[in-house]
Amino acid sequence: MASQGNRVIRVFVAGLGAVGRRFVGLMARQEALLAARYGLRLVLVGAADSSGAAVDPEGLDPLRVVAMKEARQGVSAYPAAGRPGMHVRDALAASPAGLLVEATPTNLRDGQPGLDCIRDALARHIPVVTASKGPLVLAYRELVAAAERAGARLAFSGAVAGGLPTVNIGRRDLAGSTVLRVEGVFNSTTNYILTSMAEAGTSFAEALAEAQRRGIAEADPTLDVDGLDAAAKLVIVANSVLARPAVLGDVEIEGIRNVTPEQVAAVRREGRVLKLLALAERAGEEYRLSVRPTALEAEHPLARLRPWEMGVRYVTDTMGVIYAAIDEPDPLPTAAALLRDVIDVCAGR
Ligand SMILES: NC(=O)c1ccc[n+]([C@@H]2O[C@H](COP(=O)([O-])OP(=O)(O)OC[C@H]3O[C@@H](n4cnc5c(N)ncnc54)[C@H](OP(=O)(O)O)[C@@H]3O)[C@@H](O)[C@H]2O)c1
Repeated sequence: MASQGNRVIRVFVAGLGAVGRRFVGLMARQEALLAARYGLRLVLVGAADSSGAAVDPEGLDPLRVVAMKEARQGVSAYPAAGRPGMHVRDALAASPAGLLVEATPTNLRDGQPGLDCIRDALARHIPVVTASKGPLVLAYRELVAAAERAGARLAFSGAVAGGLPTVNIGRRDLAGSTVLRVEGVFNSTTNYILTSMAEAGTSFAEALAEAQRRGIAEADPTLDVDGLDAAAKLVIVANSVLARPAVLGDVEIEGIRNVTPEQVAAVRREGRVLKLLALAERAGEEYRLSVRPTALEAEHPLARLRPWEMGVRYVTDTMGVIYAAIDEPDPLPTAAALLRDVIDVCAGR
């Protein structure tokens, strides 16, 4: 039970899929912790999915929303508050939201519907926490400028490898140093597939099906296996951590679709491990960006990543070499990263 005096944050959640509905679940599950530790009370004033929306200024019941989604019901069927067919932007505008949590599907073509939602929120001085890559990849500088104009935060630590604090380490903890090289295993679907192929001799198709069953693979797995998901994350790191304005076209991309079990086995026989490596290498004042299957020496920390782990390694001039990894067998850590950003934004950090 929230105690009196907690700061009320009215939250609108766009997208109630694997990530969004877990975030809504955390709003309820972590209620006491948020109140006790941060003096925050999150109230869900609106939510949207592909069926439409539900809006209630007094607050929707987060657990009811989760139960509806788990029962494969659209949120627009929410009693009294449901708005079948209402566009997510209209629902956001109709709600008294003080914070947008955006977890709609990543769309690398035009960033929608997330991009316009984020634009709308920032135009109304509403801070944004997002997990979706499309808007950041396509419009990073525009959105950062809009956030600055609005005096509203735009937080996205969950957009690059979910709970792995890739962006936070790079932006906050490497302050004052120059990053010489970023190496990332940013896509757990491909890491799972390559590890299964190497260790269990699983076929590409079987390993991909298992990743989808666990909800780790994107709805459209071509983003994962063709390297676009990892490249999108590298673009976000380039823009946000390396201050290198970058778009997808700047990344040399090779996915794992054509990697054969024989190639994986041959690399393994040499004592090395094949990973889909996202790489930013400093070249003069610039960074060269690439994503490709790469044979890493067995002792390289990213070579040791287990199937559902992702990791990042920063090589710097003065901060040494920093490495972080996360075991992320389901989308809960991504939802937790959204909550981490919500706390960060609300605390004004
Ligand atoms: N899954 C992960 O582990 C992970 C990790 C890091 C980042 N992300 C990013 O987080 C975002 C969400 O991922 P997810 O796995 O939760 O995706 P998802 O399971 O596909 O869920 C997407 C949600 O958006 C809703 N939606 C689709 N079109 C919409 C529209 N036009 N208007 C409003 N809502 C719409 C869907 O509605 P329905 O429920 O009605 O289908 C669903 O609730 C993506 O951008 C993804 O790249 C995911």
